[in-house]
Amino acid sequence: MTQKATVQDAASENNTGSPPRPELGPVELELAGVSKVYQARLGLVEALSDVNLSIRRGEFISLVGRSGCGKTTLLRILSGLLPPSAGSVRANGQSIWKGASRDDEALKQVGLVFQEANLFPWFTIVENISLPLKLRGVDRKARVARAEELCELVGLRGFEGAYPRELSGGMRQRAAIARALSARPSILLMDEPFGALDALTRDKMNLELQSIHAATGATVVFVTHSISEAVFLADRVVLLTPRPGRIRSVTSVPLVRPRSVETETGVEFGRIVRGLRVELDEES
Ligand SMILES: Nc1ncnc2c1ncn2[C@@H]1O[C@H](COP(=O)(O)OP(=O)(O)OP(=O)(O)O)[C@@H](O)[C@H]1O
Ligand SMILES: [Mg+2]
Repeated sequence: MTQKATVQDAASENNTGSPPRPELGPVELELAGVSKVYQARLGLVEALSDVNLSIRRGEFISLVGRSGCGKTTLLRILSGLLPPSAGSVRANGQSIWKGASRDDEALKQVGLVFQEANLFPWFTIVENISLPLKLRGVDRKARVARAEELCELVGLRGFEGAYPRELSGGMRQRAAIARALSARPSILLMDEPFGALDALTRDKMNLELQSIHAATGATVVFVTHSISEAVFLADRVVLLTPRPGRIRSVTSVPLVRPRSVETETGVEFGRIVRGLRVELDEES
């Protein structure tokens, strides 16, 4: 069963549809009336308008939409890198933004992964992964232990002492995911993390991300241009429309977990992907 919601429906906690997985927790991230206007050189750009969405603890949200529809803007607002022009963003009930200044305490729960791994070339994989812990004043022994545990989780065992240049693109991206998880964030924000990877590595990373999500119980907001990747991973797929970016639809993905390569050949999977493609086509 696919549930669609309008912008206003999505604004209401009660109307985001019954969660597809009963084990999902209470609302962890809440966007209410979020808008963003950039002051660009050539004038004002309305990047987001009246975005309303409630995301539950442990939920996996995929964010899709055409290039320039405001996905990165939304993620940057959620991550505390960018203040919204209007509206509120709450993490576990705490407002991330108080006017233009952010609440760093609320943001301690957030981990970030971008398209580029952005590892420090002069640090080993363990040193890169444990950097957020170093910045938090965690002692070396505990940092290394956590980083080694994460290497195991993301499939980098045996590469703890390697430098980023000695790893493939997919391995570097896994290290970036491990780094984002190091301080045990309850929220993981990912902006096209697998965009630069080849199709086979990407499929493998999707399976790994699914296991990591299951193992950590993190709430994930995942931006992608791939509809099938979005559906494969998500509990709900949020489709944004451009200029200004608004939520066009919220689609539940009630496929059983864990999902496998076979999931993608299923009738229900195909139906959901086709539905989203039709919606995206209507945008152009
Ligand atoms: N710093 C900025 N200054 C001015 N305009 C910006 C800035 N960043 C983004 N924009 C504009 O805001 C809109 C949304 O951009 P954003 O990067 O959020 O889109 P996106 O959905 O992530 O696109 P893509 O899929 O290509 O990554 C675009 O029209 C873009 O030109
Ligand atoms: Mg982007």
